[in-house]
Amino acid sequence: MAERATRRVIAYFIMERKYSRFAELGIAEGKTLKSILKRKPAISLLDEYYAVDSWEEYHGHLKEEWEKYYYEIKEFTKKFPQLKVLRKTTLEAAKDIPDGYLDLVFIDADHSYETVKADIIAWLPKVRPGGVLMGHDYNYSSVKQAVNEIFSQVSKPFARKCWIFEVSKNYFCKIKYVPLFKKMSFLYGEP
Ligand SMILES: C[S@@+](CC[C@H](N)C(=O)[O-])C[C@H]1O[C@@H](n2cnc3c(N)ncnc32)[C@H](O)[C@@H]1O
Repeated sequence: MAERATRRVIAYFIMERKYSRFAELGIAEGKTLKSILKRKPAISLLDEYYAVDSWEEYHGHLKEEWEKYYYEIKEFTKKFPQLKVLRKTTLEAAKDIPDGYLDLVFIDADHSYETVKADIIAWLPKVRPGGVLMGHDYNYSSVKQAVNEIFSQVSKPFARKCWIFEVSKNYFCKIKYVPLFKKMSFLYGEP
């Protein structure tokens, strides 16, 4: 679960940059989600908030507990129509989002090396130039390894545990992972 500093970073990007399309990968009981919904200046700017989670068994939580979280999060869509709950794996959900569509993506689902890497590869192309891809728990060696293999430079300017990658033409050339580079060149042009 993302701590207060990370939630602030997310709200900061939305409010300062007037971002309107946000996806959070990994919701669980919705601590971050609820904190964003509570912040009027942030939530009022969002036209679309994709909440992606499979809500399947995870880290020993019981199935019933997970079902409860899912239905609780679904309830919020009545008050916040911009909230789109995608009960899918992160890789399945990526297929629902066009490339270059999102302003901000926050990766906080499974923290294994393989999944973090797969999530970055699937979701980075969804972010438009001028947007941000960020993730949680950079202090985990699995997360750090995946992130460092793809990006030659990430910044952690606002919170201790986040990795942050600014998607722009300038930063684009700092992506190391070659197949991803090729996939994205049609979006942003060659650097
Ligand atoms: C660390 S928790 C998310 C915490 C949340 N972002 C917060 O800050 O309150 C991780 C969540 O990711 C979900 N998850 C793990 N792997 C996933 C995958 N491959 N696809 C979808 N959801 C996944 C789990 O079900 C769990 O709810």
